[in-house]
Amino acid sequence: MTKTLIAYFSRTGEQYGVGEIKEGNTKKLAEVIAQKTDGDLFEIKVVEDNYPDKYIPLIQFAKNEKAENARPEIVGEVKNFSDYDTVFIGYPNWWSDMPMPVYTFLEKYDFSNKKVYYFCTHEGSGGVHPKDFAVYGHIAQNDKTQTEKDVEKWLNNLI
Ligand SMILES: Cc1cc2nc3c(=O)[nH]c(=O)nc-3n(C[C@H](O)[C@H](O)[C@H](O)COP(=O)(O)O)c2cc1C
Repeated sequence: MTKTLIAYFSRTGEQYGVGEIKEGNTKKLAEVIAQKTDGDLFEIKVVEDNYPDKYIPLIQFAKNEKAENARPEIVGEVKNFSDYDTVFIGYPNWWSDMPMPVYTFLEKYDFSNKKVYYFCTHEGSGGVHPKDFAVYGHIAQNDKTQTEKDVEKWLNNLI
């Protein structure tokens, strides 16, 4: 039996191309992956959430956070992390990088002997590493059928 974790970072509020959203694009993608892999979800959230709700201020905030190479503290722990043999890590492309809290997460846990796969949502730049599975944010947000198809294809080619 394999045990699968899907850890992701995602925002609500105003996002590029989709307007005000109640559930983040990456979160929606993460949920499809969790459903298809029978995995457990973990949302990477920051302890002090100062991210603006509006897109333009968020862009600036994220730019500063990246420039500082910040490591914002994240909420909670993954229970029994060592039991997972496969970990999917999901992020929205922010300034052609991953949001800094994803780095906090990566540095907090020991990934040796685990299979690690990255997925992301974006609006044109794709993923940050060449092999990352990348889905347009507005597709993840608005087209579940297409997202499911793309996820299935990706998962089938992983092994
Ligand atoms: C701070 C910030 C920076 C972004 N930078 C990029 C970028 O460099 N390239 C890109 O294709 N999309 C960029 N986007 C668009 C997001 O990647 C896209 O809207 C994503 O689906 C948001 O995911 P979420 O709803 O899970 O937070 C950026 C969005 C934000 C808020």
